[in-house]
Amino acid sequence: MRRLLVTGGAGFIGSNFTHHIVANTEDHVTVLDKLTYAGNLSSLQSLPDNRFRFIEGDIRDMSLVDSLFAQVDAVIHFAAESHNDNSLHDPWPFIETNILGTYTLLEAARRHGVRFHHVSTDEVYGDLELDDPSRFTESTPYNPSSPYSSTKASSDLLVRAWVRSFGVRATISNCSNNYGPYQHVEKFIPRQITNVLRGERPKLYGSGENVRDWIHADDHSSAVLAILDRGQIGETYLIGADGEQDNRSVIERILTLMGQDAKAYDHVADRAGHDLRYAIDPTRLRTELGWSAKFRDFDAGLAATIDWYRENESWWAPSKDSTERFYAAKGQ
Ligand code: NAD
Ligand code: DAU
Repeated sequence: MRRLLVTGGAGFIGSNFTHHIVANTEDHVTVLDKLTYAGNLSSLQSLPDNRFRFIEGDIRDMSLVDSLFAQVDAVIHFAAESHNDNSLHDPWPFIETNILGTYTLLEAARRHGVRFHHVSTDEVYGDLELDDPSRFTESTPYNPSSPYSSTKASSDLLVRAWVRSFGVRATISNCSNNYGPYQHVEKFIPRQITNVLRGERPKLYGSGENVRDWIHADDHSSAVLAILDRGQIGETYLIGADGEQDNRSVIERILTLMGQDAKAYDHVADRAGHDLRYAIDPTRLRTELGWSAKFRDFDAGLAATIDWYRENESWWAPSKDSTERFYAAKGQ
C-alpha cells in the first residue's frame, strides 16, 4: 500500500486517475486541488473514505505542499490550467499554475526525496502536417505553439533540470487528447455532446480538418500507473492509443450516435494558431513497460461517453451557460 498525492485530482483526468487507483490498487490517494472553474468535487464523491481524502489548496502554496509531501510516498502531478482557448484569452493563470506551480512541487520533491510523476501533453511537440507519415516520439524536438503548450513545455524542462541537477526521482509522460467521463464542457467532445442534448448545433472550428489522437482517460490512467510502477527515473514516455481522427469526423460521429443528421453542425471562427495535427508513437510505452490500451473501439468509447453526459446533466449543467457565453463572445 503506497500513499499517493494526486494534484489536480478534481479535474477531468486527475479524477479518472483517482478512480482508477482506487479500483485497481491498494494505494491510498490524497487529492490536492484548488477547485478552479475546472475542478469539481462531485467527480470524487463516490470514493470510499478509507482510500481517499481531499485537500483544497493551491500547488503554489509552499508550506501546504511541504506538509503534504512529508506524508506521501509518491506524487502524480496533474494540476494545470489545461484549455488552449482560455490561454489565448488570458495566459497569466497558465504561467502561475503550470510553471510556478510545478516549480513549487519540484522544490518540495527535492526536499522530501519523494518519487514524482509529471503529467504533460503531446502539444509540447507542436504540430504535424496532415500528410506527414511520422508521429511524435520521445526524441521529437519541443516546438509548442500556444500559451498553454508553451507553459507545459516549460514545466517539462523544469522537471528535466531538477532530475539532472538535484537528483529528483521524476518521470514525465506526454499524452494525446483524452475523452471520457468528467471532462469539462469547454472541451471539444463534451461541448458537442451537451450542445446536442440541449437542442443546440455542434460548433466546428474552421474547416475541421485538424486531427487529434484520441485516447480514453482510463487508458491514460493505466499508462501513468505503469510508468509510476515500472518507469525509469529521468525518462519520458509518450502515451497514445492510435486514435487519430479529424474534428469533422468526430462531430459527425457524435451527431450520428445521438440520432441526428450528421451534417447538422455549424462552422465557427477558427482558433488562433490552431495546431493542425497531433499523433503519438507509443512504441516505447508498449515495448518497455508492456502497456496496452483497453478502449480500442472509438465509436464504443464515444457512445459510452455520450451516455455518461446524458445521465449526468446535474454534473455539467452548472458550467454550460457560462462556457457558451465565453465562446459566443469570440464567434465560436
Ligand atoms: P482539467 O482542467 O480538467 O483539471 C485541472 C485540475 O487542476 C482542476 O481540478 C483544477 O481545479 C486544478 N488546478 C488548477 N490550478 C491549480 C492550482 N494552482 N493548484 C491546485 N489545483 C489546481 O485538466 P485535465 O484535462 O484533467 O488535464 C490534467 C493534466 O493532464 C494537465 O496537466 C494537462 O496538461 C494534462 N493533459 C491533458 C490532456 C487532455 O486531453 N485533457 C492530454 C494530455 C495531458
Ligand atoms: O493533445 C493534448 C491536449 O488536448 C491537452 O494537452 C489539452 O489539455 C486538451 O485540452 C486538449 O487540447 P486541444 O486544444 O486539442 O483540445 P480541445 O478539446 O480544446 O479541442 C480539440 C479540437 O477540437 C481542436 O482541434 C479544436 C477543436 N474544437 C474545439 C472546440 C472546443 C472545435 O472544432 N470546436 C470546439 O467547440
